[in-house]
Amino acid sequence: MKIAVIGLGRMGQAVAYRLLNAGYDVTGFDLSEQSLSDFEKMGEAFAKGKAQRACTLEDVTRTNRIIWLMVPAGKPVDDTIASLMPHLKKGDIIVDGGNSHFTDSIRRASLCDAHGIFFVDCGTSGGVHGRENGFSLMVGGDKKAYEKIKPALRVLAVPEGMGYVGPSGAGHYVKMIHNGIEYGMMQAYAEGFALIKEGSFKKENLDLAEITRIWQHGAVIRSWLLELAHDIFKQDQELKDISGEVAQLGTGQWTVDEAQKNKLPAPVIAVAVQTRKWSAQTGGNYMTKIIALLRNKFGAHAVKKL
Ligand code: 3PG
Repeated sequence: MKIAVIGLGRMGQAVAYRLLNAGYDVTGFDLSEQSLSDFEKMGEAFAKGKAQRACTLEDVTRTNRIIWLMVPAGKPVDDTIASLMPHLKKGDIIVDGGNSHFTDSIRRASLCDAHGIFFVDCGTSGGVHGRENGFSLMVGGDKKAYEKIKPALRVLAVPEGMGYVGPSGAGHYVKMIHNGIEYGMMQAYAEGFALIKEGSFKKENLDLAEITRIWQHGAVIRSWLLELAHDIFKQDQELKDISGEVAQLGTGQWTVDEAQKNKLPAPVIAVAVQTRKWSAQTGGNYMTKIIALLRNKFGAHAVKKL
């Protein structure tokens, strides 16, 4: 079983790790020498699959008929596809596992289709923890291509954590909405925690670690985000030495744009996006510090120190 992974950042390494661990021979490509050598070292740790570095994208296509892209959304995806295209064979499958905009994925699928290449868009959730735990995968594109890559998807996903959601673009559309929901949920949790910390019971200094622990058991709002919040509060509840600036990579704004385009209300997600913009301009507050820390917990996104 062979597969190529292009883009060996945090998420690409996690994808390669799971495949190698399951006995796949993985060809890796990245522009960074450090990422390539990390990938090779990871391969040495697993007897089952071989990790082989490719020096060029042409090398990648020599021995691989399934190519998994884990590169930043936008131009890097287009550039990678353009460089691969002359070397691909009819029936080859490109999977974009990144956070691409769904309209880009529809365009790329039709470009690939004109060359007899399958393009599958795969929303990948689970953050850096997916490496050990498995991901949740939402797949769009040609159904035959989906069937062909299913064994690899099974290796990457948690049990039951993958499925076909619709035609080209649908996988990334569903992931975009997933991220919009993620924005809204984090916003709601952070607002509540800030009230507990700074509202009517401010002086009593209620214990957020204990409250999030209790909520994890039987409460309506229990969730993985709450579990991560509990981990944060166990370590620190004052959050004095970090900035409240929260970055965003775009999927929240895309969800709001999509809602506006379809004249559908999405006020919760819109406020969450606006709050992050406000935080970036002002340095934010206790509430946005929690959002920044949650993002760090699931995605290893940097938190600015003060
Ligand atoms: C993801 O989960 O895909 C992103 O890390 C979340 O989006 P953000 O980086 O814009 O918060």
